[in-house]
Amino acid sequence: MILCSVGPGSGALEIPKTCAGLSQAGHEVEILLEQGADKFIGPAAFSEFATVTNSPSRTPEAILFAPCTAEVVSRLANGLENGPATEAYFSGVRPTILIPQLDKETGRHPAVRKNIESLKEAGCRVLEKAIDETLETAEVVSFVLGSLSGPLDGVSLLVSAGGTREPIDSVRFIGNRSSGKMGLAIAREAVRMGADVTVVAANLEAREPGTRWISVETVEELRQTIVEEASRADALVMAAAVSDFTPTNRSETKMRRGEGLSLELTATADVLKAVRSENPDLFMVGFAATHGDPVPDAREKLSSKGVNMVVGNDISQQGIGFGSEENEVHVVREEGERFVPKTSKQEVARVILDELAKEIEMEAYT
Ligand code: CTP
Repeated sequence: MILCSVGPGSGALEIPKTCAGLSQAGHEVEILLEQGADKFIGPAAFSEFATVTNSPSRTPEAILFAPCTAEVVSRLANGLENGPATEAYFSGVRPTILIPQLDKETGRHPAVRKNIESLKEAGCRVLEKAIDETLETAEVVSFVLGSLSGPLDGVSLLVSAGGTREPIDSVRFIGNRSSGKMGLAIAREAVRMGADVTVVAANLEAREPGTRWISVETVEELRQTIVEEASRADALVMAAAVSDFTPTNRSETKMRRGEGLSLELTATADVLKAVRSENPDLFMVGFAATHGDPVPDAREKLSSKGVNMVVGNDISQQGIGFGSEENEVHVVREEGERFVPKTSKQEVARVILDELAKEIEMEAYT
């Protein structure tokens, strides 16, 4: 549970959206409206994604002061308690995250600077915004999520999600049924576990709060982006469904029906192999979607693609995999495997990242 103390300021209007982002990332939020905040926003605005209360939990996993006034900054820096949120801070709840929204003179004042610096030294995370700057929800959500400690703290994770599209002409393409749900569940769970997450999204509408987002369309765009980003990452989860073929020739205009059409196709580059050849130490996770028992295919892919882990699923089963909310997978490594019976994609993501976190931790000791 995250305790959010909402101060009087225009930034208060953005906090309901922040709550939505935090709730999507799996966190409960309790809202404490500070004196004067009700001039900017009422409790009803929070009803969908948070609970407004005057007596919040005394042991939240984090406290967020947003927008945070110069008065609250001063109270926190100088030990002046005035309610449940400051009380939780003085009782030692960390992380404590401050988003001061101050006018220029106040923000520059030496007394205010001194208070902010001393709070940073005391371990507070501070995201400073000028009063005329809008609070960007995605920025606030990722700042808060990144401040929470978790098993993937400090890990930079690259995730590909969605499905590629190979243009045939100006309106048609070769695509696949991937909804992107598995990749996005992995990105969401990884943010919750403390990772810095970059999503390379192939043809996805929805964005995942708290992540860096790069949109791509074709296999070639995906390959170039992943190869470039992989050099800065600690791990790659390749959840995107990648087309194995691309039309050898592409028409720039819409093709007419005519008498029929034969398409000549060329095999695409293997993204995982390309990444492995340049990044021998990167921890890489691939997927294997097969008809029937996925384990033999997953094992074969471990060596043929040079990946550390393969998540295999049987796409002949109804109600799991492509487009559905659930999945049933085998997480296969050289040393053994873990079966995850049919459950939500979010839970599958948690197990995959749990295994990844264990492996990365072990590698750090070898
Ligand atoms: N993949 C990739 N580059 C490709 C195709 C797939 O990196 N050109 C990745 C996928 O993102 C996935 C894994 O490889 O993580 C397995 O994808 P899949 O399509 O099941 O396997 P293929 O490589 O196409 O092998 P097969 O010919 O057996 O289908």
